[in-house]
Amino acid sequence: MKFSDQFEQRFAEMLTHYPTKRSCLVPTLLYAQDEIGFLSDEVIRELAGRLELTELDVRNVISYYSMLTTKPRGKYNVQVCTNIACMLKGGEELLHHCSKKLGIGHKGTTPDGMFSLEEVECIGGCSWAPAVQVNYDFHENLTVEQMEKVLDGYREKETQ
Ligand code: FES
Repeated sequence: MKFSDQFEQRFAEMLTHYPTKRSCLVPTLLYAQDEIGFLSDEVIRELAGRLELTELDVRNVISYYSMLTTKPRGKYNVQVCTNIACMLKGGEELLHHCSKKLGIGHKGTTPDGMFSLEEVECIGGCSWAPAVQVNYDFHENLTVEQMEKVLDGYREKETQ
């Protein structure tokens, strides 16, 4: 299993920031996922070995966090919150709109591999509901029209 030099530098630095190797797990998983696209069996095995954990320890942590995935997904992962604050402000309409526009349902990926869609629990943007997270970008106070522009914006980014 070969990671980039940048990953290796970050990993080495992280080990100096935490009291135990185990504490590096979540940021290490995020860096690995950013690099590989998802957390494959090979990645899990490698990181478990490096951090002196069992593969089950690593899988348990992955299953807890919705931003971590063991399956390949689209380049842009659209997470639409439908928890209470967002639901009251139109989160479900946003989800329905995204599903219709992208032609995929919850946990689906577009055939071109560009977008994945997920319905998620609170993402911490309740005061600005309805909120959507696309990879590391937050989009808040969205209307259906704005959501349309957000998705178009990511697609345009890829054609430039
Ligand atoms: S309920 Fe949607 S961000 Fe909190």
